[in-house]
Amino acid sequence: MTISPKQLASEVDRRRTFAIISHPDAGKTTLTEKLLLYGGAIHLAGSVKSRRAAKHAVSDWMELEQQRGISITSSVLQFPYYNYAINLLDTPGHADFSEDTYRTLAAADSAIMLVDIAKGVEPQTKKLFKVCRMRKLPIFTFVNKMDREGIPPLEIMEDIERTLGINLVPINWPVGMGRTFMGVYDRDKKKVLKFDAEGRHGESILAIEELDIDDPQIKNKLGVAQYRQFIEEIELLEIAAEPFDLQKVRNGELSPMFFGSAMTNFGIEPFMDRFVEMAPSPDDVPTPHKSPKDQDFSGFVFKIQANMNPSHRDRLAFVRIMSGQFTADMQAILLRENRTIKLAYPQTFMADDREGVKEAYPGDIIGLYDPGTFRIGDTICTKKDVGFVDIPRFSPEHFAIVEIKEALKRKALTKGLQQLSEEGAIQIFKQPYLGDKDVIVGAVGILQFEVLKFRLEHEYKVHVNLRSLGFKYARWVEGEGFDEAAFDRADYTKVLIDRDGLPLVLFRNDWAMTYVKGQYPGLVFLANPPGTPGLEELHGAGWEF
Ligand code: G4P
Repeated sequence: MTISPKQLASEVDRRRTFAIISHPDAGKTTLTEKLLLYGGAIHLAGSVKSRRAAKHAVSDWMELEQQRGISITSSVLQFPYYNYAINLLDTPGHADFSEDTYRTLAAADSAIMLVDIAKGVEPQTKKLFKVCRMRKLPIFTFVNKMDREGIPPLEIMEDIERTLGINLVPINWPVGMGRTFMGVYDRDKKKVLKFDAEGRHGESILAIEELDIDDPQIKNKLGVAQYRQFIEEIELLEIAAEPFDLQKVRNGELSPMFFGSAMTNFGIEPFMDRFVEMAPSPDDVPTPHKSPKDQDFSGFVFKIQANMNPSHRDRLAFVRIMSGQFTADMQAILLRENRTIKLAYPQTFMADDREGVKEAYPGDIIGLYDPGTFRIGDTICTKKDVGFVDIPRFSPEHFAIVEIKEALKRKALTKGLQQLSEEGAIQIFKQPYLGDKDVIVGAVGILQFEVLKFRLEHEYKVHVNLRSLGFKYARWVEGEGFDEAAFDRADYTKVLIDRDGLPLVLFRNDWAMTYVKGQYPGLVFLANPPGTPGLEELHGAGWEF
């Protein structure tokens, strides 16, 4: 059913689509669970025996992910928070999956940056922050694990500001730390929000009691010296901290800062309540395209994933809706092929659970059944007046020959490699003159090879050996005078053919690349296939490739 422009506008305005970025172990899984708990999407109280079980149930999909205890795939979760409709994009924390993270951030309107109070800014946080910066995403800072002893709050604030080069505006300030942590001081209300310590393990939503700053309970808990320091700090903030400015927040120049403890549920509600107010709706994000409130539907594919759930052996394309109303089974144009397709079996996500969706709105992430129709970066729309920029690819840095253990499984191997490369997790290449034999795979991070092996075994029942080739860079070639045979003869270079039949050269090291460039001034070496946007701009941002 078509909705009125007014209804569409109200659906857009209540959407918040964001990602959480952090270094592994900062508490992203825990915070995600707590947001779901507070949003009423799950009921942890009494129903979950251990946190491990809860973690399993909520956002860790893949077995490998669980075994290794790291987050590999980006999950998408949709849940309500009061009148808001939340789309939460979970990003992999490990550096080897940074390309997946980059794609996921292309679908987000803002990001929550999680920092562990004991550790401060960690390497992966720094990298992810830089990507957010490049995309000018508004960033909200949540300092976690305040129930533990850590870096004093003023110092952590300075650490974040200095390391990341962003200004912070504390929205609240911790009252105590570790054993004395009792809540947060709300700088607007000028009240201490005290949490009930009953729910130490965070199974249930905590009641919040508002205290005046001179309430004796605070002094009793902190002790005289710590209480005095707390008062001095909040007085100092009044004088020295940058004033809150929503426009600067929306421009990604100023990050609102919050303190809390995801595990014990301290500070979750005050954070979420302010976050949904300040974070941009899809309509607050400047776009070169049409307004999200335009009636014509449009969206883009930012992720493809096969076999997400072993009980549904299928493949989904994740679409971020950019404008108009989506309705199940609607017809839309796949811009790349200029043909009309039916958007069938749309789904929304709740980790393992998928639900059919009848309608969706700008900001929403939906999964479309994908029999091989979509590519990452595809635009789908009802009017051909949009076209979202291609999502850039990272140039692979690790290369390996795929050696099959059981020759009879070659068909399954080809299918597996094809599907996994369409997800963007790996790239597949052929060697000239060898045809389909001895496929070579390329990946940005070495862990992707482990995932590839694991998924081939579990999802396609093929056992392979990946024999590493000691090359470091892949460069596509443009220009006159490219002699494939000469490049293939040298032991510091190797020629491959990509999925579109284009030649590329692998280089063993920096020296080889510099040498070859000197030898062939007429050739241009590109980090991505000609015509595809690359990530050259990330060079200066500290991403290794
Ligand atoms: P991640 O997704 O960012 O990798 O982190 P995750 O939520 O898995 O949290 C990493 C560890 O930090 C977990 O402990 C978790 O319980 C703990 N943690 C998260 N938030 C807080 C907090 O606010 N305070 C404290 N003290 N700890 C917190 P673990 O021992 O690795 O796992 P588990 O045995 O608790 O599942």
